[in-house]
Amino acid sequence: MCAAAEAPQSTQTDAQLRELVDGYLQGVVAEISNERLREAGEYALLGGGKRVRPVLALRTCQLLGGSLDDGMPVACGFEMIHAFSLIHDDLPALDNDDMRRGKPTVHKAFGESLAILAGDMLQSMALVVTAKSPRNADRLVLEVATATCAMIEGQAWDTEGGMPASLTEGEKLDLIHRNKTAALIRGACRSGAIAADAGSDAIDAIDRWGAALGMMFQVVDDILDETQTSEHLGKTAGKDQEQGKMTYPAVHGLKKAQSYVRELELEAADALSGFGDRAQELRNITNALAVRTR
Ligand code: IPE
Ligand code: IPE
Ligand code: MG
Ligand code: MG
Ligand code: MG
Repeated sequence: MCAAAEAPQSTQTDAQLRELVDGYLQGVVAEISNERLREAGEYALLGGGKRVRPVLALRTCQLLGGSLDDGMPVACGFEMIHAFSLIHDDLPALDNDDMRRGKPTVHKAFGESLAILAGDMLQSMALVVTAKSPRNADRLVLEVATATCAMIEGQAWDTEGGMPASLTEGEKLDLIHRNKTAALIRGACRSGAIAADAGSDAIDAIDRWGAALGMMFQVVDDILDETQTSEHLGKTAGKDQEQGKMTYPAVHGLKKAQSYVRELELEAADALSGFGDRAQELRNITNALAVRTR
């Protein structure tokens, strides 16, 4: 378990939160008994990553009066789903990527079958872990499962197309991004609130914040794919254009993509207005995610 009881609320830096998350994840993945499967899972889960989703869940939980112990299982559940989504996203049948976080992707390092199975394993383990939440475990398992379904639908649209023909290009893009990326980020934020046993008004405000933040996260990812180098990103740059992906810059142009990030940042900040000064940590994260370069 995390050492939440030792530290008063909101005194941890983001780096300390990430360390607590890493410790918890290490303990979870160590329970995989098949050695090669465990190694593949550890490689995917413990090999870097910004830990955006668990930090969002934990900061939200703290804002609304929950403890780190309340939020840690579901925070890690979302990070495990995220790791699963990246393993499968990189597979030859999806984005066919060789590099992730500056290292060979899981299927390059362990082979395709172990990559597929490690992703499968992390998905189910995420639900087992979330079920250990001290408060509202049933609701939190549902949050993780629902967000995962949305992510997979988004990945199917991203990979295979097939969006309703009645939609404009912009609406199709919105559908992909809202599902493949925003759903997990929004779910992590919502879950922080639910883990703190927050009331429905607070959950609604956090939901609005998380939805804007999640969309912003993928628009920034699209922009970085076009504007940064592979060395800086730790993943292959320029892939979206090469693969003809529907991205925000591809559909609307780079300038409009950049101004949309600003719009979403303001929308996210507005959703937090009811929390006053207490939400400063969440405002800082929102701004950091708007200006990130990797
Ligand atoms: C990358 O997510 C995939 C997207 C949803 C855009 P992150 O940028 O959070 O990846 P890591 O975990 O930090 O590597
Ligand atoms: C990521 O989209 C979405 C998920 C992994 C669910 P991308 O395909 O753009 O992510 P990167 O750029 O490979 O990290
Ligand atoms: Mg992809
Ligand atoms: Mg990809
Ligand atoms: Mg991308």
